[in-house]
Amino acid sequence: MNKIVFASHNIHKVSEIQHSIEKWDIVSLKDLDYADDIPETGSTLRENALQKAQFVYDKFGYNCFADDTGLEIDFLNGEPGVFSARYAGENCSFEDNTNKVLEKLKSVPMEKRTARFKTTICLIFEGEKYFFDGEVEGHICEEKSGEMGFGYDPIFKPINYNITFAEMDLDLKNKISHRAIASAKLVEFLNQK
Ligand code: IMP
Repeated sequence: MNKIVFASHNIHKVSEIQHSIEKWDIVSLKDLDYADDIPETGSTLRENALQKAQFVYDKFGYNCFADDTGLEIDFLNGEPGVFSARYAGENCSFEDNTNKVLEKLKSVPMEKRTARFKTTICLIFEGEKYFFDGEVEGHICEEKSGEMGFGYDPIFKPINYNITFAEMDLDLKNKISHRAIASAKLVEFLNQK
């Protein structure tokens, strides 16, 4: 079967996408015995996704894709954005990041707490580059709720739902999320190839 590398160390993401793709073998960095970090120094999600995909493509020569995700909060002029993973500093925890957001939005009224998650996937396929985007609008709650998910899930309520991502059944989150929307576009593309 033809291989496509998912340039990610997250094996959950790899198996999630393999689930929807039959004709391609989705290979993780672990399968390639590559455990080092991939450079990620761009100033946009698109630059980062491209940088990661290009790095792995150049190194291994397989068709390859990479994703990058950020949370954009309007009141904070789009922060944490591309810095979502390390908003509260290098090696910070998910909790440090959510606490920092809650602190910065202290006393900000609900109507000004609008935000969105964005994912960009870059695919390098037979030498050509393709981008697939997904986003979900919502707002930042005043306090954390829910135990599921990861990252900023306990403080993000997607539009049209009265629960946070961390209170949401994973099957539902995986249908409506930013990553699900971008991944569905990638899957559609690859299933037609
Ligand atoms: P990555 O590009 O997928 O590694 O995501 C960067 C950062 O965004 C993560 O470290 C999380 O803090 C945050 N993030 C990404 N996806 C989600 C999500 O679905 N829910 C909550 N936070 C997320």
